[in-house]
Amino acid sequence: MDLKRLDTFAKEMIFEAGRRIRNAFSYDIKIETKTNANDLVTNIDRETELFFIEKINAFDPTHKILGEEGMGEHVDSLDGVVWIIDPIDGTMNFVKQHRHFMITVGLYVDGIGKLGYIFDVMREDLFYAVAGEGAWYNDSPMRKLQPLKIDEAVIGINASWVTPNPKINHEKLIKLINTVRGTRSYGSAAMEIAFVVSGKLDAYISMRLAPWDIGGGVVIAKEVGAIATNLSGNSFDFLSTDTFLIANPYIHRQLLENYIEEK
Ligand code: IPD
Ligand code: CA
Ligand code: CA
Repeated sequence: MDLKRLDTFAKEMIFEAGRRIRNAFSYDIKIETKTNANDLVTNIDRETELFFIEKINAFDPTHKILGEEGMGEHVDSLDGVVWIIDPIDGTMNFVKQHRHFMITVGLYVDGIGKLGYIFDVMREDLFYAVAGEGAWYNDSPMRKLQPLKIDEAVIGINASWVTPNPKINHEKLIKLINTVRGTRSYGSAAMEIAFVVSGKLDAYISMRLAPWDIGGGVVIAKEVGAIATNLSGNSFDFLSTDTFLIANPYIHRQLLENYIEEK
């Protein structure tokens, strides 16, 4: 498999999709809701996913595409070459803030992550990795994550998990928040993952993510030594939704053992 050629193809496709999304602000964006009133999708999410499907089909029709908006074929296994794509991660930020949303893409071969991309569309910032060769932030190589103590950590977490809720012991998370240096919540899982792999955050916790939220990010994680699991400490389930923790390797186990208890 010619990863270099695929990497060049993926970057060109992502940059072009980014240009199209930025141009979309000059015409009407149509907003709809999906599973609930806060689960937003726009015509631009769908058009961007279709753009990726057309490009990939023209490049190699044997490649499969697992995209959030389900515009392609149904994918029920990771056998063969599979592109995992979220055309806009952080749709609420896209609609409301016109910033802080990502395109994220992962290329998997028989279930193994080979290429990973997280592209901040408005900043035109690309975090990416080629399995076994390293990770880059634009043109600069990213370094391995450095040792860190839990009380020095800045973690990404959504405030709703620190109030009583049916999924996780919020008392333990309050203890975590009182221990760490700070918390942040950006509204785009891919952005939070990009920040963990580049050391701008030290962990990110989510109770429910889908394969397209993390497919690109976990490839980058591996190259910099970040550890990505579900909240039971096992590999994320790429064919359904799952809990998710990505962290600096020096605090991942401690987070799971001392602060995270699913109900
Ligand atoms: C969402 C964002 C959000 C996360 C949600 C995701 P979307 O993706 O990443 O930060 O908390 O779980 O579904 O719907 O904007 O692509
Ligand atoms: Ca999305
Ligand atoms: Ca998403």
